[in-house]
Amino acid sequence: MCGIVGYIGRRDVAPLLLEGLQRLEYRGYDSAGIIVTGPRAAGLKMIKAKGRVRDLEARIPKRFAGTTGIAHTRWATHGAPSDVNAHPHLDAEGKVAVVHNGIIDNASELRAKLVADGVEFLSETDTEVITHLIARSQAETLEERVRDALRIIEGTYGIAVLHADFPDRIVAARNGSPVVLGISEKEMFVASDVAALVAHTRQIVTLDDGEMATLKSDDFRTYTIEGTRTTASPTTVEWEAESYDMGGHDTYMHKEICEQPDAVDRVLRGRIDERFATVRLGGLNLDAREARAVRRVKILGCGTSYHAGLIGAQMIEELARIPADAEPASEFRYRNPVVDPDTLYVAVSQSGETYDVLAAVQELKRKGARVLGVVNVVGSAIAREADGGVYVHAGPEVCVVSTKCFTNTTVAFALLALHLGRTRDLSVSDGRRIIEGLRRLPGQISEVLAQEDRIRKLALEYAEARSMMFIGRVRGYPVAREASLKLKEVSYVHAEAYPASELKHGPLALIEPALPTVAIVPDDDLLEKNRAALEEIKARDGRILAVAHQEQPKADHTIVVPKNEDELDPILMGVPLQLLAYHTALALGRDIDKPRNLAKSVTVE
Ligand code: F6R
Repeated sequence: MCGIVGYIGRRDVAPLLLEGLQRLEYRGYDSAGIIVTGPRAAGLKMIKAKGRVRDLEARIPKRFAGTTGIAHTRWATHGAPSDVNAHPHLDAEGKVAVVHNGIIDNASELRAKLVADGVEFLSETDTEVITHLIARSQAETLEERVRDALRIIEGTYGIAVLHADFPDRIVAARNGSPVVLGISEKEMFVASDVAALVAHTRQIVTLDDGEMATLKSDDFRTYTIEGTRTTASPTTVEWEAESYDMGGHDTYMHKEICEQPDAVDRVLRGRIDERFATVRLGGLNLDAREARAVRRVKILGCGTSYHAGLIGAQMIEELARIPADAEPASEFRYRNPVVDPDTLYVAVSQSGETYDVLAAVQELKRKGARVLGVVNVVGSAIAREADGGVYVHAGPEVCVVSTKCFTNTTVAFALLALHLGRTRDLSVSDGRRIIEGLRRLPGQISEVLAQEDRIRKLALEYAEARSMMFIGRVRGYPVAREASLKLKEVSYVHAEAYPASELKHGPLALIEPALPTVAIVPDDDLLEKNRAALEEIKARDGRILAVAHQEQPKADHTIVVPKNEDELDPILMGVPLQLLAYHTALALGRDIDKPRNLAKSVTVE
């Protein structure tokens, strides 16, 4: 949600920043801006544009020389998308430039005070307050001026600051919104996401909340907002620049769906313990005695990650026989939940930065709970805040719509469930059965992907529907929920997910030929019950697309997926429905990687 990139060095800065913005565009894409300076540039030069990074690029003149600069791609929170509301924001003298991710909670109050003092605001953004506060500080150094401003503001921020009077440095600060530094030879980078940096350096320093940094072309230092030096040594990011490329696909969504066999292979790699029919999860920090003491598991996440958590909760109950449930983190944190010392809390997040999840983790930790993370981005805020966890190893997910991370997260939950089960009363033979099932997954996902052409044709057939119903029962219900979310967010077709068992308690009234139903029908002990729901729909002339392990006679169409162990079936059954959503969106001409109104990594409340 909003992307920041900055550079200080010897190279021509504008192309570098534009390339960084392109890589960050999935974090926000309603407007963008860039500001540069350098030894041969007089003062600061800024261009901003409503729209995509390509719109900004089109406005950049041939002569836009500079060797230092900061840039931003925006997802609007305060103030509509427009040229003036785009970042960077400048003070009245045009000397202080700020790019900002996050939300300043006391912006209106500060704005009113500044206006009363005669400050003229150009934009409607909360960020502009920071600019004016820095400009008004009388402190000697840029660092102190930024610090003076940060002492006054309340809220979340990741910022980068450029000052015409201090052209030899960029100052950055973090509180609640990610900031990473890219360390290289005689040049330094700052960004909100390693995606913007990995083409240039894989040596990264991640700022902590409450930390600031000064970047010069040949040096960097970090310190707390209070001014105490901190020691930050660069670590090497594991993801390579190529992982962020489209790799011959037309969209990231398609690329990421197709990557799933490899991604699942990665989450399993090195973790299976044949001898004891269990898995090794080194980062869990939970010994067997502690695992046995867990009385309940509570999983917290948002959106797709929450849906993966619903599947995870069922797996934990089934394999480890520990009561488990999942709840949207955004709801949990606002309802003053009872925090129970015998409950194991699990925070699940692709980005590891989702604010609602992070806030829930922080609240839980404050109350003494033990929190594990199931996270994709290594070293992200949630991963660092958690007491331990399982990395999802899906590789970078660039499309705003999550696909491979959903699948890998469900596999990570299967590993956690197996691990907890084997420390309790899951038998060796059941452990082996699950391990064998997990091993079959990459090949089975490839089998599903091989049906893409047929799924594309089905999508064309159903694409004219204005609304769709998704149903599933027990293991199939979270799959239905996730498939319904996928369809609506990428194709803008309205979709609703219901437990199949609840149909006759109301939603059956909606069924008619114009409202197709996608039914999840696994070959498990509930098969006959699910078939009964199909009968009910057919009796009302409803059209049915089933995702099942065998052809369903009552369905108009069936996508047959390979059977795995009952507990692992949900992992596979979601995959064809990702393709269905993708091809529906394609048929409807949607902007697949960047659906309207959405952005990846929701770092605001
Ligand atoms: C949907 C989607 C979102 C995210 C949600 C949580 O495709 O991507 O629903 O799942 O915003 O994001 P993370 O997993 O990064 O915490």
